[in-house]
Amino acid sequence: MLHDVVALLRCPHCGADLAAASDARVLRCTAGRHTFDIARQGYANLLAGDARTGTADTADMVAARDAFLQAGHYKPIAEALAAEAAASEAPSGAVVDVGAGTGHYLAHTLDAAPDRVGLALDISKYALRRAAKAHPRAGALVCDAWRPLPVRDAAAALVLNVFAPRNPAELRRILHPGGTLAVVTPTAAHLAELVGALGLLRVDDDKKTRLDAALAPHFTPDRAHRVGFTLDLGHDDIATVVGMGPSAWHTDPAELRTRIAALPDPLAVTAEVTLSRYRPR
Ligand SMILES: C[S@@+](CC[C@H](N)C(=O)[O-])C[C@H]1O[C@@H](n2cnc3c(N)ncnc32)[C@H](O)[C@@H]1O
Ligand SMILES: [Zn+2]
Repeated sequence: MLHDVVALLRCPHCGADLAAASDARVLRCTAGRHTFDIARQGYANLLAGDARTGTADTADMVAARDAFLQAGHYKPIAEALAAEAAASEAPSGAVVDVGAGTGHYLAHTLDAAPDRVGLALDISKYALRRAAKAHPRAGALVCDAWRPLPVRDAAAALVLNVFAPRNPAELRRILHPGGTLAVVTPTAAHLAELVGALGLLRVDDDKKTRLDAALAPHFTPDRAHRVGFTLDLGHDDIATVVGMGPSAWHTDPAELRTRIAALPDPLAVTAEVTLSRYRPR
């Protein structure tokens, strides 16, 4: 566990600050009541015993995501987020990625913000095994985005939320008053060539409107822009992009293989997301 980030953490149960024990194997809250293991892979487990982990990305999903991102297919999204970090004006604070997956976007963002440390938060230990190694200035924490986050008030200059769950009140609490929330959501055009052909989950047209409304009690929308590009995907890439996304939960593998085999190889596929910036209220 990266020691620079321990000063950003708080106990998810009682809210007291967390400190590293001298043997560096556990984090302990300063109220003295709660301890949390640091896994030998480098992430700390801050989940409550009764946490529901059913939405955590599986080992296969994480492997697919890692392969797809490492191949650079979503590089324009990583570059757009890194530009946010470079432009962030908040005086101090970390970059906190909520639902960080493998830490891919966090790592790119930290490269663009050489004075900041980062936190990758996710409920999937498979994702965090990778996130713990994603960047020398990042720490990785298993936690539930729907529960109080194990991060101190106003500790973040920039909060990232990329294709991942979000709890607006907690995102607001951990963000510095002068900080920025950057949310990446797919548009209805995202992977459209695959959605119909493979029976994937659809994104509705008014996702951005609903996002603004959900965040409205805590955030005001700042500028938003679309990041669109074309992916040139072979059949293996198509299986990978389906396997890393939410449709992986709902698709029969044999049926999927048959449908992919019927597609052109390679296939031009639209990637299109909205990068929305928000300011704390
Ligand atoms: C579609 S993936 C996106 C990961 C990463 N942001 C990226 O784009 O590469 C969604 C992530 O949210 C995580 N997740 C799902 N439910 C969660 C929860 N309740 N709390 C925290 N993370 C959660 C999953 O484990 C997964 O890593
Ligand atoms: Zn505690």
